[in-house]
Amino acid sequence: MEGKPPRRLGRFDAAMSLAARAMPGGLTPWIEQARLDATMIMDRASGRSPTPLVNELESPTPLDQVDPLNLLPRRVAERVRAAQRDARMLRDRLILGKTPPPLIERPRPSAASVVSLPGKTPNMARPLEVVDVVRETDDAVSIYVTESDGSALEFKPGQFLSVDVVIDGEPLRRAYSLASACLPDVPRHITVKRIQKGRVSNHLNDTIRIGDRLAVLGPSGNFTVEPRSVNERHLVMIAGGSGITPIMSILETVLRVETGSRVTLIYGNRSWEDVIFRDRLESLRQEFGDRLVADHVLEHPPDWWTGERGLLGSEVLESRLQALGVIDDGMLRYFVCGPTPMMEQTHAALQRRGVEPNRIAEERFTSPEDRSRNAGSDKTELVQVSRGGHEHGIQVEPGQSILEAALAAGIDMPFSCAMGGCGACRVRRVAGDVQMEEPNCLSRDERERGYVLTCVGRPLSPCQIEVEGP
Ligand code: FES
Repeated sequence: MEGKPPRRLGRFDAAMSLAARAMPGGLTPWIEQARLDATMIMDRASGRSPTPLVNELESPTPLDQVDPLNLLPRRVAERVRAAQRDARMLRDRLILGKTPPPLIERPRPSAASVVSLPGKTPNMARPLEVVDVVRETDDAVSIYVTESDGSALEFKPGQFLSVDVVIDGEPLRRAYSLASACLPDVPRHITVKRIQKGRVSNHLNDTIRIGDRLAVLGPSGNFTVEPRSVNERHLVMIAGGSGITPIMSILETVLRVETGSRVTLIYGNRSWEDVIFRDRLESLRQEFGDRLVADHVLEHPPDWWTGERGLLGSEVLESRLQALGVIDDGMLRYFVCGPTPMMEQTHAALQRRGVEPNRIAEERFTSPEDRSRNAGSDKTELVQVSRGGHEHGIQVEPGQSILEAALAAGIDMPFSCAMGGCGACRVRRVAGDVQMEEPNCLSRDERERGYVLTCVGRPLSPCQIEVEGP
């Protein structure tokens, strides 16, 4: 028998649910009764003929089962839940002194030494379940994950996760892009390519197994698109090596959602064996026909290779754009991700073609192993933080980042990856000098406008910064 749909929850239910949470527990039955009475009256007044207390399908949901967040749009509710979860973890860590559970748990005795990040940054990581591990190349592995309750991760194509591990007792954090298409029912995965002396990338490639738990923050990042089925556009994507990971997510999502759009991908690698997602790109090419052009450039190609040879630098790029007939009509958008030299050369080539910077989206992640370790001032500096009309003075110790000092002082600061990769901690420098670890994700334009990243920024003098937004 087909029943009527359950009675929908309304704002009134939410208000009563909130009241029940705010009032002493003894008042809950009274509040529930008041809600039931009021619901009956409202139903009658609106012409419904309720038998709410005998018909299960029409009865209001029990008060203690009403989650007011369910009445918000899903994405907003997810954000609020994430904020609540983070706040609880922060409270546990900073106020109650509780240590969060290990960040990678492995049932086997040979458990990886992956735990939390005590005392480094407030750890808001959450555990994800590793549900599959797929080797893409000798040097790259895709790690499929779900939230710990088995649900799919919410993300935007092109975003990344910050992964926390502890190796030999040292807490480390790295960012890895989600490479899956951003569609319901598509399993989510990050893809991790080994880099020379990369401690985390090698550790994950060597040890990650189905059933592990992976501690992550995010997703975050602004290197993304909003696919819309009505769009009809041409996107040009330029990737080098593991820079393909966010590009792959954007590319496949756009092709599947925007049936009138097309993509040209120029993808540089050392050798044919190094090409991550080689087969996936080929099957997408077969599926989407001339809506996808995937052009490979190989530095050390095999004998049978007939495609472009060499390093994907500005000259090779220009010649490929020419050979592929990519005509820039002023509407093309470019997505670029790869090693810093490739990105710089791509910029130069696109500039020569007259492409305005606002049509180029770029993502650069650099291993902390490659970073300059800038310690900032060798003495404690005073930093004035303005946030939401309030002023706070904080002391930043030598070697400490502004973010670390501000959080330690109890100031609610925005951040996500804590490694210069997402821009979430961006603030405006009003006065003083701030030194940042390089490279990081700030664009040229942002630097010129005086922005700095607090997670990798250290004062060189007394400073004043302003946190924008609410
Ligand atoms: S928190 Fe991501 S750049 Fe600072």
